[in-house]
Amino acid sequence: MDDYDRRHFIKTSLPGFLGLGLALPQLTAFATRANACQGRVPVGASINWDAFLEGVAHEAAKQHLDSWSERSYVQAASQLARRLNLKDPGLETAFQNVVAGLGDGRIDFEPLEKQRDFHVTLLQFEKEEAILPHNHPEMTGVILCASGEIEVWNYDLLEKKEQEEEVLLEETGHDLLRKGQVSTLTSRERNIHTLQAKELTQLIDIFAPPYDEEKIENSSWYELDPDPLQEGSRVHRATLR
Ligand SMILES: [Fe+2]
Repeated sequence: MDDYDRRHFIKTSLPGFLGLGLALPQLTAFATRANACQGRVPVGASINWDAFLEGVAHEAAKQHLDSWSERSYVQAASQLARRLNLKDPGLETAFQNVVAGLGDGRIDFEPLEKQRDFHVTLLQFEKEEAILPHNHPEMTGVILCASGEIEVWNYDLLEKKEQEEEVLLEETGHDLLRKGQVSTLTSRERNIHTLQAKELTQLIDIFAPPYDEEKIENSSWYELDPDPLQEGSRVHRATLR
């Protein structure tokens, strides 16, 4: 962006005046971006993509502090996600790109942002498409439903014996996620999830810290026994795939 300093506002020649007029929308957008996360945008008002990224970066940077609270982070990031203007031009290309994936019989992934402390991805599920139960090693996740309707089950790992393929998973959440709603997980709570779309659904996933080679390597996928250990229980046997 060009620099606009005090001189531009004092010296108002005609070209300068016209230039300022042209620049005003950009200046306003810059001010909105800069201020949105410091309380100048009314509470609950929608925020643009830049302000959203700025807010998430601010919250995710706290993961390097001793006082880092994953619970507080996912709450703060959820609030930002709920306020994100999904029609922001910064998201337009990604939404256009996933259209090409319609009918390909698999979940489509479109990267939106990758920074040191987090990354954001657009996912597209067609009706009935599902992702098998999997964990997110030492990560937090905030999942915003951008369109459609998807069923989400979350689990906590109860027991894992060394050298054994079988584990026990406790169902700790079962939600129907609709547009504008958010699902969260931390490294200790609800870390394992499985999702199945009721209709064409698009999700915006925010993971902090971001995936890297080690995290991908340490990821686990499970085959879940749909029946609980006993009637009324939420504990299921699962086998590592
Ligand atoms: Fe996941």
